[in-house]
Amino acid sequence: MDIENIKKEALDKLENIKDSVDLESFKRDYLSKKGKIRDLFSLVKDLPIEEKKTLGQKINQLAQEIEEVFLLKEKDFIKEKKEEIDLTLPAKPTDLGSLHPITQIRREMERIFQLMGFSVVEGPEIEDEWHNFDALNIPEGHPARDALSLGKTFYLKGGNVLRTQTSSAQVRYMKKMKPPIRIIVPGKVYRYETTDASHETNFFQLEGLLIDENVSVANLKAVLKKFLEEFFKREVEIRLRPSYFPFTEPSFEVDMLCTVCDGKGCAACKRTGWVEILGAGMVHPNVIKNGGLDPKKYKGFAFGLSIDRPTMMKYKINDIRLFHSGNLNFLKQF
Ligand code: PHE
Repeated sequence: MDIENIKKEALDKLENIKDSVDLESFKRDYLSKKGKIRDLFSLVKDLPIEEKKTLGQKINQLAQEIEEVFLLKEKDFIKEKKEEIDLTLPAKPTDLGSLHPITQIRREMERIFQLMGFSVVEGPEIEDEWHNFDALNIPEGHPARDALSLGKTFYLKGGNVLRTQTSSAQVRYMKKMKPPIRIIVPGKVYRYETTDASHETNFFQLEGLLIDENVSVANLKAVLKKFLEEFFKREVEIRLRPSYFPFTEPSFEVDMLCTVCDGKGCAACKRTGWVEILGAGMVHPNVIKNGGLDPKKYKGFAFGLSIDRPTMMKYKINDIRLFHSGNLNFLKQF
């Protein structure tokens, strides 16, 4: 087949290109390394040197010419394709993230305490043993150092621990601030526990601490009641049950009249009419001393509240492990 024939054929084909498939097959058939134009060079191979030269030049010229026409065609084609885009079509919806339910509830709790004059502060999650235990009146050998009430402690190489409770921040801030002190410390705590629907090795607490000259249990009760009423957006009744924490004296377990059955007894409150909601008490004089303050002059109350549990109550979530599951179907609901 001679050069002129191939040229005619190629130009013809180019003329009739209708879509990107035609465009691609033309490129493959004529312009690629194994295409018809390259093929022509095999004719030249065995010719005498002078003819080789002229024919070679002709083939090169042809290749150039065809390629130019091809490129123009390709350009037209892209332009046409662009014009096909329908700008009136609605845009694809963007996948928006949302705040984690725990974050939403934490912020709501912070908002309420801030309205009552508390400042939001943070403490380290990697804590030294002194702040996590000793400063809180839990000396070496004390059963609470590794008791069930605290869960088991994660010890790190070098002697630090992952804090088992946000209470570890109490003494840090007593040393840092001057009374009156009114702080809340929201954050992660860690306990080495077997997990189930209501236990996690990593969950959230919110610590409260108030230190001033004349502070009583009545103040503690009033602040907690006010907080719970704001949080649950309804009237609530609370009761203080005697309990034990090494860092408070007296210590209480604070229960709330069950909001599901109004105290009549139901599955949510295990038929008792009351739901345990937080631990609290009057700050132990030893702890005030460890904070560098005079326990004869200053008194205070402290409380510790799970953030996970009220979140589960509010959104009716029945398994605490969902919070860290990374399951988007779960998270998208909030
Ligand atoms: N830190 C206690 C707990 O984790 C709660 C608590 C905080 C109790 C402050 C009394 C005072 O259970």
